[in-house]
Amino acid sequence: MKKIVLVAGARPNFMKVAPVLKVLDRSHEISCLLVHTGQHYDAKMSEVFFQDLEIREPDAYLGVGSGSHAQQTARVMEEFEKWCLQHKPDRVVVAGDVNSTMAAAIVAVKLNIPSAHIESGLRSFDREMPEEINRIVTDQLCEILFITSEDARENLIKENVQGEIHFVGNPMIDSLVTISEKLDHKILSELNINSQNYLLVTLHRPRNVDNQENLQKLVDILLDISKNLPVVFPVHPRTEKNLEKFDLSEKLSRKQGILLTGPIGYRDFICLEKNAKAVLTDSGGIQEETTYFGIPCLTARPNTERPVTITMGTNELVNLDKDMILDNIDLILKEKYKKGKIPPRWDGKAGERIAQILIDW
Ligand code: UD1
Ligand code: UDP
Repeated sequence: MKKIVLVAGARPNFMKVAPVLKVLDRSHEISCLLVHTGQHYDAKMSEVFFQDLEIREPDAYLGVGSGSHAQQTARVMEEFEKWCLQHKPDRVVVAGDVNSTMAAAIVAVKLNIPSAHIESGLRSFDREMPEEINRIVTDQLCEILFITSEDARENLIKENVQGEIHFVGNPMIDSLVTISEKLDHKILSELNINSQNYLLVTLHRPRNVDNQENLQKLVDILLDISKNLPVVFPVHPRTEKNLEKFDLSEKLSRKQGILLTGPIGYRDFICLEKNAKAVLTDSGGIQEETTYFGIPCLTARPNTERPVTITMGTNELVNLDKDMILDNIDLILKEKYKKGKIPPRWDGKAGERIAQILIDW
């Protein structure tokens, strides 16, 4: 029986592998293993996703933890290579664009194990983003490339990839559809906020939060918005460190109308997303989830690897432009912001399509 290993390591991986793992685990034709690299390790960045998405225990936990890009990538490679040599998988499947994704794909190709990439072909054309490098390398190495939208196909063809491209839809949306049926709305009363009356904020891109001037700008923008609309800001660990380092934490936490929390579990976070008046974010995945829900999304970045969320969805790039952000918030409050559509094949069935292709491979 063929042995397929799914690799996940960081927060945005878990909702992408969950729907694929569920189908593969039920198959009698292959055996499926799950390896957690340990890139994210805090309960709120990892364990809570296993609970909320009902993902079974991983078969291995590599415990690589944090470090510089080279250190983290190297640790995943070292540990995953050992694991592969011991367990001899026939196929390796990676997802998304984090360091664990690229590291596992490199290990697989060097051991001559064919690999597949879930969420292939996304490009921001911005090599300052570490994820862009991870995407380019991973897509060059994998033999099966699962894409979430047709623009990804064009990007891959231009890069002369060797792999076979399959337009399967978006597995992140499968997880969103599943969790949407289980929302209990307790988080709204716990945070003492009302549906449709707050801006949900997430920020963690190094360009925004590692740079003092940019983080200061974003903090000022949030202080301004909070005069008209309450702000709910679940803070990523990278951002928390930098808010402290640049002496910005107190400025935010003392302000009425701004609610700071730590990272929020998947089910509660999706509930916050679905009930928000709007979202301000620099996340990749959140641009897609808000498009699915039809919630206005302002993306605090100069570019996006997910253009379909702008052309079809509810996303707009606002970078760190305060006027543009405030003007858009004004449009949203006046109900004049654009309405979007759900992109093709974001229908909750991507996991099944991916799993079937992997089983037949
Ligand atoms: C990583 C991904 C990024 C993704 C993000 C999702 C890379 C290059 N980056 O960025 O693409 O959007 O995850 O959240 O792979 N930390 C903790 N607890 C944890 C994990 C991290 O405190 O469980 C802190 C550590 O101080 C660490 C820092 O957060 O140094 C950054 O973690 P890291 O995984 O290196 O990158 P992210 O910014 O999380
Ligand atoms: N998310 C979450 N809690 C949070 C922030 C994000 O559950 O406090 C979820 C979000 O709904 C999406 C995923 O995490 O499913 C996106 O991950 P993140 O923004 O960390 O990474 P990116 O998508 O930018 O790589």
